[in-house]
Amino acid sequence: MSNEGLSNLLHEERTFEPSEEFRAQANAGQELFDRAAEDREGFWAEQARRYVQWETDFEQVLDWSEAPFAKWFLGGRLNACVNAVDRHVEVGHGDRVAIHWVGEPEGETRDITYAELHQMVQRAANALADLGVGEGDTVAIYLPMIPEAAIAMLACARLGAPHSVVFGGFSAEALHSRIDDAGAKVVITADGGYRRGKPSALKPAVDAALAHDENPVQKVLVVQRTGQDVDWTNGRDLWWHEALEAAAETHEAQAFDAEHPLFILYTSGTTGKPKGIFHATGGYLVQTAYTSHVVHDLHPDSDVYWCTADIGWVTGHSYIVYGPMTLGATQVMYEGTPDTPHQGRFWEIVQDLKVTVLYTAPTAIRTFMKWGTDIPAKFDLSSLRLLGSVGEPINPEAWMWYREHIGADRCPIVDTWWQTETGAIMISPLPGVTAARPGSAMKAIPGIVAKVVDDMGQEVEKGSGGYLVITEPWPSMLRGIWGDPKRYQETYWSRFPDAYFAGDGAKLDEDGNIWVVGRVDDVMNVSGHRMSTSEIESALVSHPKVAEAAVVGAADETTGQAICAFVILRADAVAEADSQAAAGEGEKLVQELRNHVAKEIGPIAKPRQIMVVPELPKTRSGKIMRRLLKDVAEHREVGDVTTLADSSVMSLISDGMQKG
Ligand code: WTA
Repeated sequence: MSNEGLSNLLHEERTFEPSEEFRAQANAGQELFDRAAEDREGFWAEQARRYVQWETDFEQVLDWSEAPFAKWFLGGRLNACVNAVDRHVEVGHGDRVAIHWVGEPEGETRDITYAELHQMVQRAANALADLGVGEGDTVAIYLPMIPEAAIAMLACARLGAPHSVVFGGFSAEALHSRIDDAGAKVVITADGGYRRGKPSALKPAVDAALAHDENPVQKVLVVQRTGQDVDWTNGRDLWWHEALEAAAETHEAQAFDAEHPLFILYTSGTTGKPKGIFHATGGYLVQTAYTSHVVHDLHPDSDVYWCTADIGWVTGHSYIVYGPMTLGATQVMYEGTPDTPHQGRFWEIVQDLKVTVLYTAPTAIRTFMKWGTDIPAKFDLSSLRLLGSVGEPINPEAWMWYREHIGADRCPIVDTWWQTETGAIMISPLPGVTAARPGSAMKAIPGIVAKVVDDMGQEVEKGSGGYLVITEPWPSMLRGIWGDPKRYQETYWSRFPDAYFAGDGAKLDEDGNIWVVGRVDDVMNVSGHRMSTSEIESALVSHPKVAEAAVVGAADETTGQAICAFVILRADAVAEADSQAAAGEGEKLVQELRNHVAKEIGPIAKPRQIMVVPELPKTRSGKIMRRLLKDVAEHREVGDVTTLADSSVMSLISDGMQKG
C-alpha cells in the first residue's frame, strides 16, 4: 500500500459500536480481556477445559523451555474427530444439521446431521485403517468442496494420521512436490468437481503427480462426484464409496497426545519451495474452537454459519472443519463460485438457508461492489447478524459497503487477522465488545499479545508504523516446518529476539489499534491467496525460453495484488519472439509462459501481466530491485535509481513497455 493510502487509513475515525441487542446475547464480554491479562496461562487452561473434551486431562499448560519450540497442554490426550463429531451425538445433538451442502449445479443439495457425519467418519476411518493408515502416517487430500473433504480430514484425525490437504487448484507438479515432502501413503481425491457450470477433472492431476518414478503413495481413494471417465491403476486406485461400504460400521477412536501432529498445510514463503506448516492437535483445537465462540460468536443451537473459504486453505481447516464443528455448529458448505450460475448466488444461499454469520474475504466483497448493490438488494438478507472478513487488508470503502449493503448497517463486522502459521484468529474485534473501525483488525484477542515494532524490535509509538510481531507463544501456533526445524527458527524467530515475526507491516493508531497493511517480504497476496514471488520466478525460469525472471505484486483494485512478471529471454528465443512480435503475435509467447506457470504451480499463479524486457534492474551486488519494477507495474514515476549498477536499465524497460 502506498504511503498516501496509509495516512488515509489512519484518518479513518468512524467507529461502530455493537448494538445493545447484539451485546446482550454475545458470547464474550470485556471480562475475557481482564481475565487473560491477569493470568494468561490460567486463562488458556480454562479455555482448553471449556472447549475441548480431554480423554486425559493435561498436567501443564505450556512448556516454553525450548523456545521457539512450544508444547501446550502437556500430558493431555484427546481425539480431534471425537471432539468435532462424536461428542455432539453423545449429548443428544445427533439430529442437528452439521453441513448444509450446496452443490454448484442449482438444486443439488445434501444435508448431513451430526449423527450421519458420525457414521461416515467411522466408516472412512475404518476404510483408511484397512489400507494400512495408522498413527503418524500422512495422507494427502486433493478434493473439491464436497462433504467428503471434511469427512476425509476428520477420518484422518480420528486415526492420528496427519492430513495434508492440497488445494484443488494446484497443478500436478505442485501436488507431486507436496505429496513427496509429506511422504503421503494414501491420496484421497475425486474424479472431478464442478467449476463454473462444468465438470472439471481432478484425478488426471493425481495420476500425473504419481507418474514420477519414486513416490511414497500406495493407494488412491477416489470419490465419485461428477461421474466423468477416469484412468484407473489396478491395485492402486479404489473407489471411496466401495471402500467405505466394505469397511466396518463402528470405529473406536483412540486418544492422542496433545502435541501429536494434526495436519500439515503447505504455504508460500520467501523461497521457491513451499513450507509444510504443521499444527499440533490440542492447542490448535482449543484456539479454533475458542475463536469460533468468541469472535464468530457462534451459538450452535440457533446459528447457521457460512465460511466461504475453500477447505484447501487454512481458513477452511480452522473455520469450516475444526472450530465450528468442535462447537457443534450448523454450517453451509458451498461447492462453487460466487457467479455461478448468476451473480446473486451467495445472497440466494444466505436467503434460502437463513445464514446468520457470514465469513468471507475482502476480494469477494470488492467483486460484489463492482457487480453492483442491486444484486444483493434483490434477496432477503435479514437473517444475517454478524459478518467476518479474512485473508488480506480490507479497505475502509469495502468495509463500509459490506456493512451497509450486506449487513443492513446493523451487523457488526469482525476483521480477523491471522495466518496459516498462527492456526487461528489472533487480532480481531470481539463483536459484542469492540467499537470497530473500518479497515482495522483492532486489537489482539484475549490471550494473545501482539505488538508493532521498529527495525530494532522496539515498540513503535502510537501513530507510527512498523512490523507486526507476536511476543508470547499461543496454543494454535505452528509447531514447525515439516522436516525442517532450522528453517522454522530462521524464518519466524530470528528477525527479532524473542518474538514471532509474521512478515506483515502494520501501523498503530492513536488508540493503539492495529492496522495490518500487508506483507513486507517477498510474499504476495492475490485474492487472499498467498503466493511467493520466487516460487513464480522459479516456474518461469524453468521454461526453456526464459533466462531470468523477476516477479512483483502490483496493487489491484479487486484482487488486492496482481502478479506481474518481467522476463529476459534466452538469446535463441529472442529472434523468434521478435518475429512473432513483428507478425503481431507478441501475445503468443506471453500465453505460452502463463500456461507454463499454470502447469508448474496452478492456474491461480498465472501472472496477470508478463513483460519481456532486455535487462532487469540490479544493485551492484546483483540483487534485483523489485521496488523499481513495482513502480513500473503500478504505472508510477520510477523511484530512486542511484543504487542501480546500471542506471540506464530503467529507461530501457520503460521504453520497451511504451513500445509494447
Ligand atoms: C494476510 C489466511 C490484513 C496477512 C488466514 C497474513 C490479513 C496473510 C488479514 C496470511 C487481515 C490475513 N488483515 N491482512 N484481516 N488476514 N491477512 O496464511 O498478510 O493464507 O500474513 O492465512 O494474509 O495468509 P494465510
